[in-house]
Amino acid sequence: MSASYPTPVYSHVGRGDFRDVYEPAEDTFLLMDALEKDAERLRQSCCTDVNPAAAQCTAKTSSSNKVSLQPVITSLVDSLLSRLSGKVDVLVFNPPYVVTPSEEVGSRGIEAAWAGGSRGREVTDRFLPVVAQLLSTKGSFYLITIAENDPEEIITSLCQQGLQGESFLTRRAGNERLSVLRFLKG
Ligand SMILES: C[S@@+](CC[C@H](N)C(=O)[O-])C[C@H]1O[C@@H](n2cnc3c(N)ncnc32)[C@H](O)[C@@H]1O
Repeated sequence: MSASYPTPVYSHVGRGDFRDVYEPAEDTFLLMDALEKDAERLRQSCCTDVNPAAAQCTAKTSSSNKVSLQPVITSLVDSLLSRLSGKVDVLVFNPPYVVTPSEEVGSRGIEAAWAGGSRGREVTDRFLPVVAQLLSTKGSFYLITIAENDPEEIITSLCQQGLQGESFLTRRAGNERLSVLRFLKG
């Protein structure tokens, strides 16, 4: 049985200075449950966000929960790729996955929390090609998807990069069928 961890303090999210930051929702909690399910494999994680307010909000969340984290404001891992290549043990991505017009993709504000463009895959698809490069030999990658993102196709695509992938945890939230995909290297 996996250990049970308290839900972090996050009452500041979506309010005041952090009103333009995505509030934890069903996708967030499903991802947390997947990480808790796999807690023994996990030690440290790194964090980036394209929305400066979200990065500041994460800093506040980490200090409120006595966790040491230094959020980096960048798109995906653009400013970190060479430094992190082959060094990431745990990679977690809850991307903007909602199907929207392509023109809505690319904001640095609250819209970046959901606007996924065609098939809800435009941001995810920019990230997938660097996943295998980032992961260490014992690395794992957790990705939130909905059915419209065609998770099976994502699993097939990353398997072609040498990763082993599976649908690790699935939950229905309103009209969305959320899944956490888990990929392991080696
Ligand atoms: C669905 S929200 C998830 C927020 C939070 N991580 C959670 O799990 O509750 C998606 C997050 O991805 C960020 N994001 C969108 N596009 C990004 C990009 N190109 N690079 C980094 N972060 C991005 C958004 O600003 C937003 O904070």
